[in-house]
Amino acid sequence: MESIIDTILPGDCTEILADLPENSVDLVFADPPYNLQLSQELYRPNMTKVDAVNDEWDKFESLEEYDKFTRAWLSACRRVLKDSGALWVIGTYHNIYRVGAILQAMDYWILNDVIFIKTNPMPNFRGVRFTNAHETLIWAQKKKGAKYTFNHHAMKSLNDDLQMRSDWYLPICTGKERIKINGAKAHSTQKPESLLYRVILSSTNPGDVVLDPFFGTGTTGAVAKKLGRHFIGIERDEGYIQIARQRIAAVQPAPEAALEQQEPRSRPKVPFGALLEAGLLTPGQTLYFGPKDGASATVLANGHIRCNDITGSIHQVGRTLANAPCNGWENWHYVDERTGTRRKLDELRQVIRLQAENSMVGSDLKDEKTPLRDLNEKDRGGLVAATARLHPGVSSRDSSEPPDLPIE
Ligand SMILES: C[S@@+](CC[C@H](N)C(=O)[O-])C[C@H]1O[C@@H](n2cnc3c(N)ncnc32)[C@H](O)[C@@H]1O
Repeated sequence: MESIIDTILPGDCTEILADLPENSVDLVFADPPYNLQLSQELYRPNMTKVDAVNDEWDKFESLEEYDKFTRAWLSACRRVLKDSGALWVIGTYHNIYRVGAILQAMDYWILNDVIFIKTNPMPNFRGVRFTNAHETLIWAQKKKGAKYTFNHHAMKSLNDDLQMRSDWYLPICTGKERIKINGAKAHSTQKPESLLYRVILSSTNPGDVVLDPFFGTGTTGAVAKKLGRHFIGIERDEGYIQIARQRIAAVQPAPEAALEQQEPRSRPKVPFGALLEAGLLTPGQTLYFGPKDGASATVLANGHIRCNDITGSIHQVGRTLANAPCNGWENWHYVDERTGTRRKLDELRQVIRLQAENSMVGSDLKDEKTPLRDLNEKDRGGLVAATARLHPGVSSRDSSEPPDLPIE
């Protein structure tokens, strides 16, 4: 077992899983082929071709063939899962109902289904259906009634001490995070790291082993390593394996001290944890109290910060330092890598808000109320500039980058 931890095993997952020790992994995250059954090319109104998922790995002869494949990998995963283990599987309307029915018939016990709501989905170009703006995740434990891992407090503090719900609003993988080769997407369905961040932080502990039988570009491995977990990847495409290896090698694991679970505290409206999930801050990064000099604190993976022996939300730690009421967004600063200067955390909060607003506009939800709806032109201009500077990928949908796939 030791020798396969933190490695990618090349080949067919069902065959490889059969050789792994039983009851050995803590969590399976699976992003299997969707069996999209695309029968024709897809074009935008301007007649440019949509870069849809039409890979060979997604093709099956029939629904029966797909079900047979699903039964095989689900039962192979069940054998290697510990009794306390659990499985996450993500899919779309094309496959998730079939996968769900099969895993229930196998005595997996469903704990939740979670909706990954894409804040920046691709429109339905032909206007013949609703915009396909979500994917579904099923979270199921191996054995009904067994002890399983759910880090309730970590989820709550990641969401600024508000209980995490089963509807997750996250952007699909774009911008800097999207791996490209010669300008083209390296993989048609690379998942966003923010999604795996939530899955792994909620249902594993540091040091646990997460197995992904459909590893692709290694999103699961990259986030597992960042959060101090181990991974085993299985992938049958050698090209994707190379990409995943390089990607994971570049990941810096969070320091152990940043991975402790903390008790939840105060409850501001915009969750500080969203900055971590979006990759605008990283666990272990230093924040500074004030624009010059002042105390410093370490960002923890669960959305709290630590300054010496004080741990809590940005507001609570600020309040203790100032011995007065404190708005953490205004008082804590991060260092802008580009200029080397300190900038208010609030700028990053505005990036998240602007991103949410942009995606609402992009997905034809113009009538929805958003926190930025009432900003004047000057404020909007400032935020657009901040977004471009801090997170180049955020605004790229409007310009050079084509809209993304319905399935990511
Ligand atoms: C939906 S993609 C996963 C993408 C991945 N989550 C990521 O973020 O990059 C499915 C992957 O499973 C691989 N695959 C398909 N059938 C497989 C099989 N039987 N065994 C191993 N890998 C397989 C494909 O090559 C593809 O990379």
